[in-house]
Amino acid sequence: MRQLVYISSMRRQAAVDPAAILAQSRRNNARARVTGLLFFDGKRFLQALEGDDAQVDATFARIQQDERHHALVVLSNREVETREFGEWAMAFNVPGDGDADMLERVAKLTANADPAVRATFEGFAKVRRAA
Ligand SMILES: Cc1cc2nc3c(=O)[nH]c(=O)nc-3n(C[C@H](O)[C@H](O)[C@H](O)COP(=O)(O)O)c2cc1C
Repeated sequence: MRQLVYISSMRRQAAVDPAAILAQSRRNNARARVTGLLFFDGKRFLQALEGDDAQVDATFARIQQDERHHALVVLSNREVETREFGEWAMAFNVPGDGDADMLERVAKLTANADPAVRATFEGFAKVRRAA
């Protein structure tokens, strides 16, 4: 099973509606048995995708071409034994979405993740809270 984590920036001119991205993602991911976590801080996206190699590859190929974001960098792309982010079709967090318990949510969602991957998500949540 593959786990891919990337970070990207929202394209400034793009009319980004996180709810629309999420609805689209959940629909497609449920079909492809792709799961993961998507963070949006108003400027950047941090996303983990997990599933069968071919399904993650196909999903990521579409995401990479999406003009709503740019400067996409893959942070980690590895084989995992089991899903480390749970069974969410795509768990989601934005600022204001209960910032106070954001770190706790991230800790829960990444509880089983590789320490390096978990640190990336925790760092993202902390930076946002401080900002
Ligand atoms: C930050 C970001 C994350 C996305 N995540 C997913 C995802 O997890 N799964 C997915 O199918 N599409 C995702 N998309 C949307 C894809 O880029 C693409 O628009 C969509 O898969 C096309 O599917 P459709 O032809 O069914 O509308 C994401 C887009 C952005 C900008």
